[in-house]
Amino acid sequence: MNSQPVAVFDSGLGGLTVLRALRQRLPQEDFFYFADTRFLPYGDRPETFLRERGVLIAEALARRGAKALVIACNTATAAAAEAIRASSALPIVAVEPGVKPAAALSKRGAIGVLATTRTLQSERFQRLVSTHAAHLRVVSQACPGLAETIEHAGPDSPEVAALLANFMAPLAEAETDVVVLGCTHYPWVAREIARYLPEGARLLDTGEPVARQLERLLLGKGVLGGGSGKLQLATSGNPATLMPVVRRLWGQSLPIEHWEPR
Ligand code: DGL
Repeated sequence: MNSQPVAVFDSGLGGLTVLRALRQRLPQEDFFYFADTRFLPYGDRPETFLRERGVLIAEALARRGAKALVIACNTATAAAAEAIRASSALPIVAVEPGVKPAAALSKRGAIGVLATTRTLQSERFQRLVSTHAAHLRVVSQACPGLAETIEHAGPDSPEVAALLANFMAPLAEAETDVVVLGCTHYPWVAREIARYLPEGARLLDTGEPVARQLERLLLGKGVLGGGSGKLQLATSGNPATLMPVVRRLWGQSLPIEHWEPR
């Protein structure tokens, strides 16, 4: 047991979809959630920037007393997970698009992947597809603008609907029966996405598998449990601006502090 918090980070509030699964599975952990909103969206930023930023955030979170780190951002994983693992002594779990389970579940042999431009262009993603889904039709759809529009305009806004109408057309046309939500912001609009898919189509996010992996990791390191479900939120942006967004997405108000990793 170890009462230090588990740190979780994302470019913004997408990682809250992962945090929800973590808290459900691990109620005896405390969590420190960092939204790097100053640099949202990560999806349009160069890989070198994301690598340096990711390493800096991991170092600062370790100094702040985290006992483990969850990279709750597919884009940060794609660009920076290797560099973070190489430079940090923290136990680390990193989300990545669920291409492997999607390939196993698809009956029609056609899967869709929704993610940021940066994630889809990464070597890591190309490898994931060639290892697990080379025998399938994979429709990889970049969704520029979607993550920040979910935060700024809201999941059920006309702005989100307009973006999805555009992004979902190729997936609907290919009759994909399993769609990977390859960005942690997208579970917030799962219902809106499902409208474009055939009856019975599956949407896969990675909250639950990441929670199981974190549990195994903490257990293996002898630091599982010891907290009391405490949750602290921080942003590199303006807490006052983020507060109503948290309330809308999380369903309740939570205090947020300003924090700058250094
Ligand atoms: N939530 C992040 C992800 O999982 C990315 C959103 C962004 O572009 O910042 O990829």
